[in-house]
Amino acid sequence: MKVDLYKKTAKDFKSLPNLEDYEKTYKTFEWNHMRHELAWFNGKINAAYNAVDRHVDTWRKNKVALYWESENGTTKQYTFEQVARESNKFGNILKSFDVERGDRVFLFLPRIPELFFAFLGILKIGAIAGTLFSAFQEQALEDRLANSGAKVLITTTELKTRVDKIRKNLPDLKHLLVVDSESFTKSLESVEKDLTIAQMDADDYAFMLYTSGTTGKPKGVVHAHRALLQEHMTAKWVLDLKDSDTYWCTADPGWVTGIAYEILGSWSCGVSTVVYGGRFDPKRWYEILQKYKVSVWYTAPTAIRMLMAKGSDMVKQFDLSNLRHLCSVGEPLNPEAVKWGIHAFGKPFHDTWWQTETGAMCLVNYPCLDIKIGSMGKPFPGVKAAILDDSGRQVKPLVEGNIALKPPWPSLMKTIWRRPQKFESYFTNDWYISGDRGWEDKDGYFWFVGRADDVIKTSGERVGPFEVESALVEHPAVIEAGVIGKPDALRGEIIKAFVVLNKNYELRISAKGGSASSRKNEKEKLKEELSLYVKKHLAGHAYPREIEFIDKLPKTRSGKIMRRILKAKELGLPIGDTSTLEEY
Ligand code: PRX
Repeated sequence: MKVDLYKKTAKDFKSLPNLEDYEKTYKTFEWNHMRHELAWFNGKINAAYNAVDRHVDTWRKNKVALYWESENGTTKQYTFEQVARESNKFGNILKSFDVERGDRVFLFLPRIPELFFAFLGILKIGAIAGTLFSAFQEQALEDRLANSGAKVLITTTELKTRVDKIRKNLPDLKHLLVVDSESFTKSLESVEKDLTIAQMDADDYAFMLYTSGTTGKPKGVVHAHRALLQEHMTAKWVLDLKDSDTYWCTADPGWVTGIAYEILGSWSCGVSTVVYGGRFDPKRWYEILQKYKVSVWYTAPTAIRMLMAKGSDMVKQFDLSNLRHLCSVGEPLNPEAVKWGIHAFGKPFHDTWWQTETGAMCLVNYPCLDIKIGSMGKPFPGVKAAILDDSGRQVKPLVEGNIALKPPWPSLMKTIWRRPQKFESYFTNDWYISGDRGWEDKDGYFWFVGRADDVIKTSGERVGPFEVESALVEHPAVIEAGVIGKPDALRGEIIKAFVVLNKNYELRISAKGGSASSRKNEKEKLKEELSLYVKKHLAGHAYPREIEFIDKLPKTRSGKIMRRILKAKELGLPIGDTSTLEEY
């Protein structure tokens, strides 16, 4: 395989990177030696205090922490002191609703400043923050709120209507706070601005995020306050954040990237952060980069490919001369996208690999190292990575296997909420098995191959096939559904559903009579209806873009849908071992 190398030269460095010598640091690194990077209260810690409040005692007090811009162009900005105060107010309001340490407080909010203040406020009083992506619909909300036993939900008037429909199924949910309501705005005006920060053990829970696997409903990945140490160090050494930077992470805090690198790790480095509340739009994105003189930009491959599709002429219309460091996460970053970045912005995107469960970056490309284009880079100092075979033995370089990490590392999840066995199932022979497959080259760079399971990555977002299948079978026309990720040049994968129709529905379509083409039309209409149905019940981003009606799904004798066979058929690949397949 021919590998293109991006060799760094003096033009890549306006100033020295925060991490100057990777190899030397990796050899001697110990997490304990890094404790001084954070503020502790006699061995106790609070991640939100570290992210924001500690800067208020320094010259950063009046530095802008947050530049916020909405889709319609409204702008707001807040200094570190103001973010500290606003989040204190949320903490005090929650206390007035009897929220205590360990209680779950969930946020169902668009990317508005209140989302950031509320998140920090929850952590400051020792409660556990959960974020819900604003595209979630009733089913996705109910699964997460019910499983977490959330006591309070913070939302907006518009999003609240979705919660109202499921409220009766959520006995633990005691309070709904609506940030744009008159009563809430009033209480924000009168509430105390000072707050006693909860001093937490490093292992106390701080936040949780639901994420998808192959089977079952989404699982609640729980992180502790200690995760901040790794989020901070990676923000410093990989994102290379410096006081002079303006930083933009395009992720939503409904996903782990938005929490680790838009709130905790990045603010802990004291950087001015841009948050754009609107949807993806190439021209608008370039305007944001130009207007705020963004210097460090953390985004995702699908976005890069979409920008690439608009061409580099559009880039030239903007002054992006402040950009100095680009990073990417969430799905495979194809070499073409890296090369386009070099062409369009004069610098490469640095790929970073990690997961909701790992809590922070683990395999990464560094400012101080050359990039093997297409590789995810090397393990972060303090993180040991390896490729293991299916029985848990380390394989030789260049041999494909399971990407595994050796616990512990500070940001490793603490547990899976209410599912300790699920948590245990991630570990084999004292290794954490990521569920991704890849290989390591002779120089210690890691390369991604694919998922070891049926998890789908569409536009960088992780979707469990089971969730989509469950939503589809709720529709009266559907008996069964099998869902796969189908490779897509732009989105990485799209969701494709194979659907077995209820015979009555089929009959109804044929009973309508008409020509073969009008029957075909009816079926096409039904496909649209099913896509929309999932969009409306599950989530705006997790619906099948392609649907195919089939007579029967391939299943094991025990009745499990064999998605791997659906996928092989779709791609025209060999079907592989079918010994467990029921007659098909
Ligand atoms: O399959 C890998 C893919 O995203 C999965 C984790 O998804 P999630 O928990 O949503 O976290 C995404 C953001 C941290 C991984 O198991 N993935 C993530 N980064 C990369 C990647 N695949 C290839 N290259 C990457 N850089």
